[in-house]
Amino acid sequence: MSIKTLQDLDAAGLSGRTVLLRADLNVPLEEGRITDDQRIRATLPTLDLLTGAGARVVLLSHLGRPKGEARPEFSLAPVARHLATLTAAPVSFVGEPAGPSVEAAVATLADGGILVVENTRFLPGETANDPALSGAWGGMGDLFVNDAFGAAHRAHASTAGLAEAVRARGGEAVAGLLLARELRFLGDALESPRRPFVAVLGGAKISGKIDVVEALLPRVDRLLIGGAMANTFFRALGLNTGASLVEEDRVEMARELMERAGDRILLPVDCVVAAEIAETATTRVVDRSDVGEADRIGDIGPTSAEMYAKELRKAGTILWNGPMGVFELSPFASGTLAVAEAAASACDGGATAVLGGGDSAAAAQEAGVVGRLTHVSTGGGASLEFLAGEELPGVTSLSPKD
Ligand code: 3PG
Repeated sequence: MSIKTLQDLDAAGLSGRTVLLRADLNVPLEEGRITDDQRIRATLPTLDLLTGAGARVVLLSHLGRPKGEARPEFSLAPVARHLATLTAAPVSFVGEPAGPSVEAAVATLADGGILVVENTRFLPGETANDPALSGAWGGMGDLFVNDAFGAAHRAHASTAGLAEAVRARGGEAVAGLLLARELRFLGDALESPRRPFVAVLGGAKISGKIDVVEALLPRVDRLLIGGAMANTFFRALGLNTGASLVEEDRVEMARELMERAGDRILLPVDCVVAAEIAETATTRVVDRSDVGEADRIGDIGPTSAEMYAKELRKAGTILWNGPMGVFELSPFASGTLAVAEAAASACDGGATAVLGGGDSAAAAQEAGVVGRLTHVSTGGGASLEFLAGEELPGVTSLSPKD
């Protein structure tokens, strides 16, 4: 489906108009301090376009999972304060997600100004996709811009519900610049990859990624597996995985996948192991067939990292989702950092590399390669669902292109 985007609208028609903007400002906070503001920065092009054109922007987002209650630790107030330092537009904040105080604040919003409303998930109607709640927001404007790719897989009142409410009243619901960019890069990688097309999948569990593996297998030239999900494949090969995390109930599935994929699936050939997965761990590098009973696998080994890097350097298109090991801990970070560097150097040579969000985005940040990669997605779960070929309600609810 081809959806309407902000760029399809005439910017001249935005001046003085109240625009409801849904962004994904769900950023990590530690004691009220934002530890990674990528998601806020990623939505700035949309905000700047709207405020530059003189729109009055009502900005909605969730933060964390407060489960329908107003819990101060999930307040968007620190996010609004931080946003004010990143944009030239005036930013105000109202301490409720909906209701008379929000309506009053909207009524005094100046052209080119941004009003951040409190966490949409403070209301139970948000995750229940309550039409009364989306109708209340939808009554404040006739243009809805959805820029929240990270929440596009959720059919919530401020995402799909709000798009439907605005459209039911004769208004328009369009994709913001970030959402459009995410769909373009992830979509192009899937639909028209330059070959060789190499996918790298890592992370803890094969179960959460099985639909992605199924969807990618017929498309890719190589599928490189890392992270704890590789352990389940090791078991399918009859290898000892010691005390490592294994999804016993997925071993058979891993075996079947390997049979089907043949030499397109690559598994690590060596591993970094330790008695415990900790910052202070004493590690050993072992062949994958030499993992001891008490060993825990924490990373791919150097031979595997070089083997994967070689595949990546030859690639025309790279899709990467999930770290190769427990990269947050320095003894187990090398494999992930090597993959990040190889993906970045492939991009330096003209390849396209698209990174799924969440952990892989944090890994790319840690490796200092974000600026060299083609696109780092702001969506974790959303990018996985997109890659698995599932429909995203936050997208399908938008106005179709004329
Ligand atoms: C995310 O962090 O992946 C998005 O913001 C969605 O959050 P959720 O998984 O709590 O819906």
